[in-house]
Amino acid sequence: MGDVMRCRTELCCIVLVPLLMVINEASLVTVEGLIGGSVLLPCSSEAPPITVQGITINWKCDDRVKVFDINEGKVSGEGQDPAYKNRAETFPEEYKNGNFSLGLNNLQYSDRGKYQCYIVEESIIRTVELLIEVPPQDPVEGDIGGSAVLPCSLPRKRPLTTEDITVTWKHNKTLQVFDIIKGKVSVKEQDSVFRNRTETFPQEYLNGNFSLKLYNLQHNDTGFYKCYITNELLIQSVKLEINQGAQSRSEKILLIVPFLSVSILLFM
Ligand SMILES: *[C@@H]1O[C@H](CO)[C@@H](O)[C@H](O)[C@H]1NC(C)=O
Ligand SMILES: *[C@@H]1O[C@H](CO)[C@@H](O)[C@H](O)[C@H]1NC(C)=O
Ligand SMILES: *[C@@H]1O[C@H](CO)[C@@H](O)[C@H](O)[C@H]1NC(C)=O
Ligand SMILES: *[C@@H]1O[C@H](CO)[C@@H](O)[C@H](O)[C@H]1NC(C)=O
Ligand SMILES: *[C@@H]1O[C@H](CO)[C@@H](O)[C@H](O)[C@H]1NC(C)=O
Repeated sequence: MGDVMRCRTELCCIVLVPLLMVINEASLVTVEGLIGGSVLLPCSSEAPPITVQGITINWKCDDRVKVFDINEGKVSGEGQDPAYKNRAETFPEEYKNGNFSLGLNNLQYSDRGKYQCYIVEESIIRTVELLIEVPPQDPVEGDIGGSAVLPCSLPRKRPLTTEDITVTWKHNKTLQVFDIIKGKVSVKEQDSVFRNRTETFPQEYLNGNFSLKLYNLQHNDTGFYKCYITNELLIQSVKLEINQGAQSRSEKILLIVPFLSVSILLFM
């Protein structure tokens, strides 16, 4: 279970927050990455550096884990957490532009966390939140007018309190489907096409189960649904396929009729 907590220790943050406030924490950017995939965590200085030789950059995860260092313009592997060995890179040809973005390859579940890029010369910290997406399992199927349960649950059980439970469901990245805010259902932001068609299971929340039931399925409900488990920096995605039902059966008959006629003609 070591990997679960690598970047996700609450303790470190409580201790370090007062220190961070001294420094200008300019921005919070959110980046999503797929397990096994790659991401670019952006970090740029306010102005291009005067000399590349003068640059010192510390990339850390959750204020604690050493991810990547640039020391006086040179890449330094010293003290780097072994978890990031051969997976993290910066782009030396970009340093002169003040671009110290971090590329992270072969993403793992345990990479989720808040990454800090500390630009020492400018006393600036850029913070990038990295959410990890678990690739979709088998698609869920539904019929027009019917219902379907879209699964979303924590891959590993851990004790939860309602305070921890903030979850957002989205359709095709854009449409807002459902929100659970600190354990409470909220449909304030819900897109009107989902009005009165959604349900979650509050008695399951504390088990880490935030599955969504969708009623009265429409043809255009097809697509990808993402369940953002905010406190865990985790995304579960699921594909919903809508069976064509009666409509496609009649289309098939229309296709078969000319085919049969041709066959009959050929055999006559
Ligand atoms: C920084 O460099 C990376 C790698 O070349 C590039 O993909 C990214 O767009 C650059 N960022 C900016 C702000 O120029
Ligand atoms: C949703 O249900 C409520 C009460 O059950 C009803 O008043 C409202 O008109 C419904 N909205 C839609 C868009 O069907
Ligand atoms: C989550 O809850 C739903 C509704 O009760 C249930 O159908 C589903 O099997 C549960 N999923 C898990 C992983 O327990
Ligand atoms: C999906 O189709 C229904 C009617 O079939 C329509 O009312 C709704 O606006 C459509 N939704 C989107 C997102 O286009
Ligand atoms: C969502 O995306 C799928 C394809 O990925 C598309 O078939 C569907 O119409 C889209 N639905 C909406 C409401 O954008």
